[in-house]
Amino acid sequence: MHVDIITLFPRFFDGVFLNSILKRAIDAGTLKVNIHNLRDFTTDRHHQADDYRFGGGAGMLLKPEPIFRAFEKAVAHVKPRPLVIYPTPQGIPFDQDCAEELSGQGHLIFICGHYKGVDQRVIERWVDREYSLGDYVLTGGEIAAAAMIDAAVRMIPGVLGDIDSARTDSFQHGMLDCPHYTRPEELEGLSVPGVIMSGHHRNIELWRNAAARFLTKKRRPDLL
Ligand code: 6GU
Repeated sequence: MHVDIITLFPRFFDGVFLNSILKRAIDAGTLKVNIHNLRDFTTDRHHQADDYRFGGGAGMLLKPEPIFRAFEKAVAHVKPRPLVIYPTPQGIPFDQDCAEELSGQGHLIFICGHYKGVDQRVIERWVDREYSLGDYVLTGGEIAAAAMIDAAVRMIPGVLGDIDSARTDSFQHGMLDCPHYTRPEELEGLSVPGVIMSGHHRNIELWRNAAARFLTKKRRPDLL
């Protein structure tokens, strides 16, 4: 999968692609990331990428021309046309189904807004999907883009070591995940539930299903 990221703050991604699963996906050639610095697509002396909003009000907006130029120079020639995603609190909620759909795409482009976002004409001209992480406001689209890329890439077959670990995740069956335990069996008086240690696979599966259902009912009844 190719991922292009258009951002005014490329250093936000320092570390994101240098660790753990995403790093492994890049090393294996499964993931290729290109980060485009919006500042490089400004043409004025001050390299200004943001501006005041028409109509007034607090908060700056990313200017449309550098973003248009970033597209035209860096990615608009790519065929077939990649799916373009704009992370925004105004988007539809990003969930596991969205992550799975993105994981099947060959090429994604993320436009990271900042401050009040981007000029609406960027969205009109280029954007296919507007996604939100949840009902709160982040300072910009970078952290949201990183989250969406992570959620999508880990669903690409072969990226996770053991495919089972993705198949049994939270949300994969419309429920939260159950609690898990590893060694030691006893830790400062805290013990592992007996059934987990029983070696009885059917009972362990029943316990895990019941625990997942209990947790989902308690915390996320909207999922049931
Ligand atoms: Cl996708 N972007 C920003 N800036 N804030 C958010 C968000 C996205 N999702 C939740 N809050």
